[in-house]
Amino acid sequence: SHLESGKITWSAPSNIALVKYWGKKEHQIPENPSISFTLDACKTITSLSYSKKENTSGFSFDVIFEGEKNLDFKPKIETFFKRIEKYLPFLKAYHFTIETSNTFPHSSGIASSASGMSALALCLMSIEKELQPEISETYFNQKASFLARLGSGSACRSIEGDLIVWGEHSEIAGSSDLFGIKYPYEVHENFKKYHDTILLVDKGEKQVSSTVGHNLMYQHPFAKQRFLQAEENITKLKEVLKTGDLKQFIEIVESEALTLHAMMMTSMPYFILMKPNTLKIIHAIWEFRKNTGLHISFTLDAGANVHVLYPEAEAEKCMEFIKNELVVYCQNGHYICDRIGFGAKLM
Ligand code: PMV
Repeated sequence: SHLESGKITWSAPSNIALVKYWGKKEHQIPENPSISFTLDACKTITSLSYSKKENTSGFSFDVIFEGEKNLDFKPKIETFFKRIEKYLPFLKAYHFTIETSNTFPHSSGIASSASGMSALALCLMSIEKELQPEISETYFNQKASFLARLGSGSACRSIEGDLIVWGEHSEIAGSSDLFGIKYPYEVHENFKKYHDTILLVDKGEKQVSSTVGHNLMYQHPFAKQRFLQAEENITKLKEVLKTGDLKQFIEIVESEALTLHAMMMTSMPYFILMKPNTLKIIHAIWEFRKNTGLHISFTLDAGANVHVLYPEAEAEKCMEFIKNELVVYCQNGHYICDRIGFGAKLM
């Protein structure tokens, strides 16, 4: 085609699941639907330079991570390219330079796969759009999410905001196993400007990769029940998002976080991903909530860090509590103030 070379830059956010995705079938199809808040501050910025090449027999790309040539990411991206090649026929026609950096520290224990894979998928979609200018914005976003899913499942929830559903659910119109969609119903004011302060309890390498974690659900004794529960929790959450019932919201979200960890504790082999300080934070949040009636809650990823969630109306008091009583449990006192965001941006 006519397109010789160019450069495109996208920033894509991280996301935090309220109802968790944990367990998948072949081709990155989730065992259960999940729903997430798109984040705002935690993001990946990726520039993709492309230039036509002669030899089209294989993929050709370099990765520059935070200013330095990086070989560690190459296998993951190679796998990603292999999976998406049939949906992007131009992939072997160009040499790519992928320059990428995160707004959050590399070794913070915050996974960059969601924001990283969605940023890369969006850059590739921009090339597709150059080649096929007629594609609509809806198609663009849907396909970007579809491609991102093939990089890392939860990445398909990092294209748009502010609430995203991924996985087919009978009560969520338009939901699909293949890509994330914007939550299609009216959301109560209470959830419009939610905060997520991420407490960095342990910045070490993840003890269990999500690939290993998902695979452990194949032989898991409680898997079937768990997948059903997630589906029911989405039904419950749909009602809560309409009524604005913060108490119920907390119950669903905290139960989901603990269930995710319970799945890991009851797999074979078994893992405990929480650290002593994770539990100290959880107990302190419960105590503070009991004493003040404020609607502060937590959720967890597949690691020891704690995401502290609270509504805008209570932000000042909650932040004061976090600074005074929770930051002591963070490694080197590190935490990140984030909030609900509205999706990826073309730079
Ligand atoms: O996208 P993956 O394969 O890294 O899985 C992420 C799974 C959790 O973050 C633990 C839960 C979720 O729904 O995001």
